[in-house]
Amino acid sequence: MNLKQKILVTGGLGYIGSHTAVALQEAGYEVVIIDDLSNSELFVLDRITQITGIEPEFHQIDLKDADLVNEFFQNNKVDGVIHFAAHKAVGESVQKPLMYHKNNLLGLLNVLEAMKENEVDHFIFSSSCTVYGQADKMPIDESAPIKKAESPYAKTKQIGEEILEDFVAAFEKNVISLRYFNPVGAHPSALIGELPKGVPNNLVPFVTQTAAGMREFLSVFGSDYPTRDGTAIRDYIYVCDLADAHVKALTRLIQKQNKSNLEVFNLGTGIGSTVLEVVKAFETVNNLKLNYKLVERRAGDIIEAFADNSLAENELGWKPETSLEESMRTAWEWQRSLP
Ligand code: UD1
Repeated sequence: MNLKQKILVTGGLGYIGSHTAVALQEAGYEVVIIDDLSNSELFVLDRITQITGIEPEFHQIDLKDADLVNEFFQNNKVDGVIHFAAHKAVGESVQKPLMYHKNNLLGLLNVLEAMKENEVDHFIFSSSCTVYGQADKMPIDESAPIKKAESPYAKTKQIGEEILEDFVAAFEKNVISLRYFNPVGAHPSALIGELPKGVPNNLVPFVTQTAAGMREFLSVFGSDYPTRDGTAIRDYIYVCDLADAHVKALTRLIQKQNKSNLEVFNLGTGIGSTVLEVVKAFETVNNLKLNYKLVERRAGDIIEAFADNSLAENELGWKPETSLEESMRTAWEWQRSLP
């Protein structure tokens, strides 16, 4: 008899999803992945298997298809869901708002509906610090107001959390929403990591591609911010630390340790780093020089965002363990492993 709890990871071949699938397997959970491969690659499944020695069950399903989602839940008895599957590019969401709302919200609704129909009680939601907009005070704790969203992408995360409020109120389900700050780095094996399509928007993939000679130089967006070196401040959280938080959150629900049926936790290091500090950390730990230029601010960027992570520390018993340097080392190892 198989006593392992079976966890559905949607978007499990993506960046954070794949690291979480590994962490779940290492914690003794059985993992089943749904992914539509719209922004991920099938080889990631083999890589997860190489790391853990266990091949996760995989279903290529588009979550927008309610019938397929319900059919999956009818055929697979799962004990909980970690829901990563979503589009996540802020700029693209401004160009294609309907696509973002349709994909991110319809996918969420179909999963929740199937959970209701098939009596699945535990749900972890992939949210974002973007729900806070430009917060009034630092560090940002979970009581900070949800400000007007700065992009359709941010709106899908805000609306997603609101849908979950109604879901837990009506159906006695248990949900944890995890608000990530800036996920960075790759698995220490260098077998999985971030796989940006086209020109990266995010800082760290741009840094590693510049170091690899794929980009001529990094544009540092803005050097006149009111910060210690003039560049913007973010909270860069190592992806494997982030993955561990998902395992802790899920276990909390399964063991019924949650204090309300909808809990929200910030996942960040609690340390704000400037763009130039990230560049420096990357150069130091990898012993190389990065070509960069200080340029104009990027439209829509906020000055600073870093987490108060004490709630996650106290309630989940989770503490980020990896330094920015170590994250930058793994990011470079991963980049160098790519063809
Ligand atoms: C972005 C998204 C956010 C999302 C997060 C994680 C926006 C406005 N926000 O956050 O919703 O949750 O990614 O994926 O896009 N930078 C450079 N040069 C570059 C790229 C970035 O200087 O080539 C700077 C940015 O100006 C920023 C910092 O690096 O200060 C981090 O940027 P990025 O990685 O894009 O993340 P965020 O903008 O914080």
